[in-house]
Amino acid sequence: MLLRCWRILSLLALLSCPVLTACAQTAAVDAEGHQWWQHAVFYEIYPRSFADSNNDGIGDLNGITSKMQYLHDLGVDAIWITPCYPSPQVDFGYDVSNYADIDPMYGTLGDFDRMVAEGKKHGVRIIMDFVPNHTSDQHAWFLDSKSSRTSAHRDWYIWRDGKGPGQPPNNWISLFGGSAWKLDPATSQYYYHFFYAAQPDLNWRNPKVETAMLDTMRWWYRRGVAGFRLDAVDTLFEDPALHDDPVLPGKNKQGDPITENKYNTNLPEVHTELQKMRKVADESGAVLIGETWTANIAQLDKYYGDDSKELQMPMDFMFTTVNKLSPAEFRRQIGMVDSAKGWPVFVISNHDIVRSYNRYGDGKHNDAIAKLMAMFFLTLRGTPIMYYGEEIGMENNDPKRKEDVKDPIGITGWPAEIGRDGERTPMQWTAAANAGFSEKAPWLPIPPSFASHNVESELKEPDSVLSVYKTVLALRHTNSALLEGSYTALNEDDPNVLSYLRSYKGKAVLVALNMSDTPRTVKFDLAKQGFVTFTLSPLVGTAEIGNNGAVSLAPFGAVIASVNH
Ligand code: NOJ
Ligand code: CA
Repeated sequence: MLLRCWRILSLLALLSCPVLTACAQTAAVDAEGHQWWQHAVFYEIYPRSFADSNNDGIGDLNGITSKMQYLHDLGVDAIWITPCYPSPQVDFGYDVSNYADIDPMYGTLGDFDRMVAEGKKHGVRIIMDFVPNHTSDQHAWFLDSKSSRTSAHRDWYIWRDGKGPGQPPNNWISLFGGSAWKLDPATSQYYYHFFYAAQPDLNWRNPKVETAMLDTMRWWYRRGVAGFRLDAVDTLFEDPALHDDPVLPGKNKQGDPITENKYNTNLPEVHTELQKMRKVADESGAVLIGETWTANIAQLDKYYGDDSKELQMPMDFMFTTVNKLSPAEFRRQIGMVDSAKGWPVFVISNHDIVRSYNRYGDGKHNDAIAKLMAMFFLTLRGTPIMYYGEEIGMENNDPKRKEDVKDPIGITGWPAEIGRDGERTPMQWTAAANAGFSEKAPWLPIPPSFASHNVESELKEPDSVLSVYKTVLALRHTNSALLEGSYTALNEDDPNVLSYLRSYKGKAVLVALNMSDTPRTVKFDLAKQGFVTFTLSPLVGTAEIGNNGAVSLAPFGAVIASVNH
């Protein structure tokens, strides 16, 4: 599960569619049976932080619309916008108080429709973030639910009597700290919340909840949404008998007992429900991306479902569990997902995880490493989901004082848990005041590095992180070996240079990435891949190419080369 693993991480360290026959939202497939989302590049936008059109210090939908040309030029085919529905913003939108509207801070439904239309003009599809597990405690359903034990919506949430006076129904612990049960004094019962108390869990065993939620998804599809990213799907169902979770030794950062979430996550009913959501998505040719923290292929395969009837794009997040460049670990992970039942998805950063620039950076060569990471995860067999700002080498800007923290996890957990503000700072557009994000001081401070790491400056620099992203993305959209090709690991014992071949119908692209701070020369033998003799021509990056497949790379140097007979 995303947040749990994100927490472990912080504990540890801190359309263009050239080969498609059509770009329609319906299931157009190419010669290899690939659908649009298999060749698309997705880009996650945290709407508070992308672009502020009305200068109130908070990003908004009109801001996103104003940047469609930028997204198109970058090579993005679909944007996933984290929740922008009406919300008290306790968890910055992941506490939804109305699923069928836009929060006034982000705009209106009219603005949303204009964003969809502008996206269409630029070949950029819109993916909304759907939060099925819980609502806000201010949602009309919950307000009615808590109003009396006999209210119409009482059973839309999970209410239980305590075990005894002052004792919650069982030992389940909230991911965000403390018991997962909160007593409501008015009706003398407890309600269940896997996340904050302000995020009560919906009762998906109630058919009315299911119908309301599936109908909401249909409503957004009709409005032009091309798919959903589904939040925290493994938490949808709980054991109705409320068995206690097994308790493991020790305490977590919040001082709570560590429990194995055996009875409140990953229940088999999750998959039955995902199949129903998929049927609804298929009515519109939409794609479902899942926040599915999976640790191995067996877990990942379950989310594709039998006969691929569940999620098209479960996110395994494996790369985000790696905090330094490690060819061996990356090779192991790619090998695993390459043999999965479904299409791989690659993510190196998101709004819950320290930015890739900091996680992989060594503090001295961070720009070179950011370029190398682009040449890596954008050339794999699978769909990449970028995180806004990654393309300009944006860094984490973590709060230094408790009073500056905005993320409630950081407020309650400080100093052991500093929260997620650092990876959610405003997009750096220019070197002008507030990085060109807003005329007003933004809701989170921008790191000083915006002076050099911003869109305007980097567009002018042929060797900037942004220019490398653009070049790789352009290649990815046109090169058949990258679009359609198989993945073959090369030089598998090399501890420093990660290399692989992508090949399709006699065409091949070789990628070699020096993940060390020392120059390295590697030699490739591609006879097994059908290239007894060959030459290499660099497409992106620099390397000295010698005879007989010898490639010399600078420290953290990387090359994407075509292989010629
Ligand atoms: C996962 C989201 O990515 C995270 O930001 C949020 O806090 C939790 N789910 C709860 O919705
Ligand atoms: Ca605004």
